[in-house]
Parts: sequence; structure tokens; C-alpha cells
Amino acid sequence: MVSSRDVASFLVYFSVFHVFLLKFVDSKCPKSFPCGIFGNLEFPLANYSQPECGLFTVECNAVPHPKVHLDTQWFSPSYQILSNISSSSVRIRNPILEDLLKSKSCSLFLNFSIPHTPSISYQFFPNITLLKCPKNMNVDEEMHYFLDRTRRYEDCDFDFDIYYAANSNENLLLSLPLSLPNVCSVLHLPLKLPPTSDSAELFERLGAEYHLQWILSDDCINCHRKGGQCTSTGNNEFRCEEEKNPLKLILADRRESLLSVSPSSPTQNLKKATNNFDSSKELGDGGFGTVYYGKLRDGREVAIKRLYEHNYKRVEQFINEIKILTCLRHPNLVSLYGCTSRRSRELLLVYEFVSNGTVADHIHGDRAKEAPLSWPIRMNIAIETANALAYLHKSDIIHRDVKTNNILLDDKFCVKVADFGLSRLFPNDVTHISTAPQGTPGYVDPEYHQCYHLTDRSDVYSFGVVLIELISSMPAVDISRHRHEINLANLAISRIQRCAFNELIDSSLGFGSDAEVTRMTTSFAELAFRCLQLEKDMRPSMGEGVSISEGNKG
Ligand SMILES: *[C@@H]1O[C@H](CO)[C@@H](O)[C@H](O)[C@H]1NC(C)=O
Ligand SMILES: *[C@@H]1O[C@H](CO)[C@@H](O)[C@H](O)[C@H]1NC(C)=O
Ligand SMILES: *[C@@H]1O[C@H](CO)[C@@H](O)[C@H](O)[C@H]1NC(C)=O
Ligand SMILES: *[C@@H]1O[C@H](CO)[C@@H](O)[C@H](O)[C@H]1NC(C)=O
Ligand SMILES: *[C@@H]1O[C@H](CO)[C@@H](O)[C@H](O)[C@H]1NC(C)=O
Repeated sequence: MVSSRDVASFLVYFSVFHVFLLKFVDSKCPKSFPCGIFGNLEFPLANYSQPECGLFTVECNAVPHPKVHLDTQWFSPSYQILSNISSSSVRIRNPILEDLLKSKSCSLFLNFSIPHTPSISYQFFPNITLLKCPKNMNVDEEMHYFLDRTRRYEDCDFDFDIYYAANSNENLLLSLPLSLPNVCSVLHLPLKLPPTSDSAELFERLGAEYHLQWILSDDCINCHRKGGQCTSTGNNEFRCEEEKNPLKLILADRRESLLSVSPSSPTQNLKKATNNFDSSKELGDGGFGTVYYGKLRDGREVAIKRLYEHNYKRVEQFINEIKILTCLRHPNLVSLYGCTSRRSRELLLVYEFVSNGTVADHIHGDRAKEAPLSWPIRMNIAIETANALAYLHKSDIIHRDVKTNNILLDDKFCVKVADFGLSRLFPNDVTHISTAPQGTPGYVDPEYHQCYHLTDRSDVYSFGVVLIELISSMPAVDISRHRHEINLANLAISRIQRCAFNELIDSSLGFGSDAEVTRMTTSFAELAFRCLQLEKDMRPSMGEGVSISEGNKG
């Protein structure tokens, strides 16, 4: 029999992952530790006695079986280890789940979710996809058709029934109707090994022994490589505990599979989330679409980009943007959570919501009047933007529309570079020789107009304009300026050539009054000057840009 205490600890298992502890760097952590018959094990595993050294722990000497704890807290439940431990998976037995299966307890279908932190996520397989819906639910025709093709388990004492694919080879996720009622939820449970026949009833098909696989986030891998410790903040944001320069280490949380985890009619949910695309929720226009603020049912804030209208080229570009974004991971790039499918009537992209507006807004827009950004913040913006662009270039991607309107700030003034709508993979893609001008006036590489060819050095040019905006607080284009100075790049070049830095750099930042600020802003002006060279070969690469900006800080 299953005691209520077991059920409670089973549930704790699934809520434990919302509790985060800040761990502190322990220089005594060994690179690997001996673990009985398993040989030497490494991060993310840790010996039970040193939980701070990993992301989950192993009790190597437990009898009759060694055990694994999927969390480093003492109250986390343990699982018996049934196989050798490879670098990313292990076969385990979940004793609590085993008891629930034996007693056919429907508690099993409550609160089951995949453990997930910004540092590590887990998968288990083989698994079955289940749909949990209230017993007396109104269903439309599409849903009716779908349910007719599934099997139903209706013996739960709870107010729900469980639906699952009649044929175990069928992927229920792929056939879910778009109009899936909000009251239904999708869950996954482990299947029995070896598999039972499709005619077996649900509880016979589920199993408590399964392969558990872990996946470290890129943030955590990078952090661990640098000798830091992967942790999370209370807001479920990834944090790398390192002694040096904490400002730059506040990395973004990536909730990668937002929509794939809860695929209940994305379009409907997103419509609801934006109050049916109410204009009051509009955040602005970004390449090819209008961006809306949205709040998902679970409270998460997102930015939703809605395509202006359907036409093939734009849809193509949208899909292109999705492909590029989903491959990119960098703390200074806006993350893409998910999108509606090609099938749905409307193409929507769901991005991380970045709360504190654009750099343009903060240096010469509405927010500039309230509280102008100080020099240290501007310098950090320059460095983080350079890092994001260097990362893109290393991934063979040209941004094509670098401007202060596309550089977003979070509440800690960390940079999130946005809008990859104009990006394209190169060099294999012939369309990089494009006929329509791209980019934004004031930022476009002058060489582009001669040869219609954008390169990574075109982004360097645009970055030069951004640098000048940061030190001068002037907009990239201003028709009220003198004819030759409408373009900020021209204005800056002529003043830097005359060494008239005082006519370029914003004195309210401390230029002329604070020696350190004067030195740094002047060297950023010099870097910008190099980026703004007409001859693209004279411009530094973005990688050099990063080292120079970081050096200037010094
Ligand atoms: C690992 O932890 C166990 C306690 O679970 C302890 O007895 C053992 O000494 C530890 N091994 C190492 C190498 O720290
Ligand atoms: C674990 O690995 C060792 C050596 O690689 C092998 O001899 C042993 O049979 C494996 N054990 C299991 C349970 O797979
Ligand atoms: C299970 O989920 C429900 C609804 O989401 C929530 O009210 C309840 O507190 C959860 N129970 C546990 C033990 O986490
Ligand atoms: C279920 O199994 C599939 C295929 O093995 C895997 O991709 C997926 O991540 C698993 N789901 C969960 C919740 O672990
Ligand atoms: C922007 O960030 C600052 C500093 O954290 C905060 O005081 C301000 O309220 C934020 N503004 C918005 C609109 O989020």
C-alpha cells in the first residue's frame, strides 16, 4: 500500500526543483571522485558528502543498491541505480512511483513534471504522452475527432480522465488539436521495459524503471569550464558564482521548451495572453511584425511578435528567424521560447520579455529625461553588445540591423540584442547578395551601396554608430542637424579627425570633469572611429572590438 507520506514525498520530488539554493564556490571540489563499482565520476555528479560540488549526488556505498539523488538537498528522494553511469545517463528505479503503480493510484497523474533548472534538465525514456482532461468537458468537433482516436482511462477517483495513444508508435503530441481546451494538460510518464502490448491497460503499461538522461545548459557548461559554480537566483535565473566581476555573469534563464512543454493550442493561448492583440499591449515594431506584451497563464511575461500579413517571402523570413534564433545561445541575445507552427493560421513568435526598453529610449528617447544612463552602464552596454555580435559572427551570422533600437535592456541594465529578422546564414546562402537595401538609415555600411554585399564588417560599422550614440547621447540620424552632420557617423568622423572630442562626447557623463571618464570615452571614440572606416578592411573584427572595449575599461 502507498502511505500518504509516500505520496507527499513523491510530490515533493516534483516541487523540489522550484526551490533553489545558492551554493558557494568550494575550491576543494575534486575534478572527479571514486564511486565504487562505477569508477571515477565527474561533474555534474557529486559525492553524497559533497553536494556543493555538483548538481546532483550519488550515494556510492548505499546497500543493497547505490542511489542517486536528483537534487543536492538532503530531503530529496533517492532512486536505485540499476546500470553503469555514463556521462549523461543512468538507468534507475523510482520506488515511490513503483508503489503508486502497484496500487493503481491516480495521484501519479497529479503534479508530474520534468525536473528543470537553468543549469540542468532531465529526460526519461521510454515514456508515454498522456492528456489529462476533466470528466465533463465540452468538446468541439476537432477535439471530438481527436479523442475518438485515443484510449481513455476513466477509473480515477479524481475529476479527470486520462487519454493516450491507442497505438504506442503514434506520437500524441503531433496529433493534438489546435483547439485543445485550456482545461486539459499534457504529461509524460515512464513506460514499462520491456514494453507491454498495446492492448494492456494504462497502469500495466507504465513502469518505474527507466533511463534518466541529464542535459546541462550551455550557460552551466561555460560556467563550469571557467571554474565557476552553476546556481540559480530566486527568480529562476541562471547564475554563475565566480569571484570576478559579478555584473557580467548575470546570465539569462532559458526556458527552452515553453510551448513544447504545454502545447495546448498555442495560438489561442497567445491571443489570450495578449488580450487578443490589444493595441495597448503593443511594445513596438520589429522586423516584419508587431511586438506585443503577453502574460502566459502561468504568470510568465513574454514578448509576442505577430507577422504583419501573410506573404510567402515574409513567412519564409519568419521561419528563417526562428531557425537562427533557436540555434543561438548567448546571455546578451534575446532568447526565443517557441512559436506557432507553420500549420496554424497565424505565425507568432514568443520571445523572452526584456523589461527595461531599448538603449535608444534610454540615451535620447523618452527615458533619457527621467534618468540618463551613467557612463559605467553605457560602457557595459558597449561591451555586452560587442560580445553578442562577436558571438553571432563566430556562428557565421551577420545581424544586418544593429542599432540602438534593437539593443534591449533588462532590469539590471544587461544587454539583450534583439531582432534577427534580417539575419541570414552565410556564406552558402546566395541571397546575401540581395537587391533590396537592408538595415536602417544612419547605420548602414556605406560600402553596401556600392556592392550590395553585407559582411560581418557591416555590423562593425553599425556598432561604431552605436558607440558614438553611447558617448554623445545623440541619435544616429537627426535632420535638424547641419546638412553634413545629419548622419551621426559623418558628424563623429569630422570631429574626431579634428580631435574635437569635447564637441562630440556628452559632458554630462563626466567628460572633461572626471579624468577617468575622459580617458575612457576618448578611447571608445577612437574605437568607434576605426569601426566607421569607409574601407571595410580597415575596420576591426568584432572579436577585436571586444578586446579593445574591455581593455579601454581597464
Ligand atoms: C563520499 O561520500 C561518502 C559518504 O556518502 C564518504 O564516506 C566518502 O568518504 C566520500 N568519498 C570521497 C572521495 O569524498
Ligand atoms: C559496468 O561496466 C563494467 C566495465 O565497463 C562491466 O564489466 C559491467 O558489466 C557493467 N555493469 C553493468 C550493470 O552494466
Ligand atoms: C499540485 O498542483 C495543484 C494545482 O496546480 C496545486 O494547487 C497543488 O498545491 C500541487 N500540490 C503539490 C503537492 O505540489
Ligand atoms: C520522452 O521520450 C522522448 C524520446 O525518447 C524524449 O525526446 C522526451 O524528451 C521524453 N520526455 C520526457 C518528458 O522526458
Ligand atoms: C528599469 O530599471 C531600473 C533599474 O533597475 C528600474 O528602477 C526601473 O523601474 C526600470 N524601468 C522599467 C520600465 O522597468
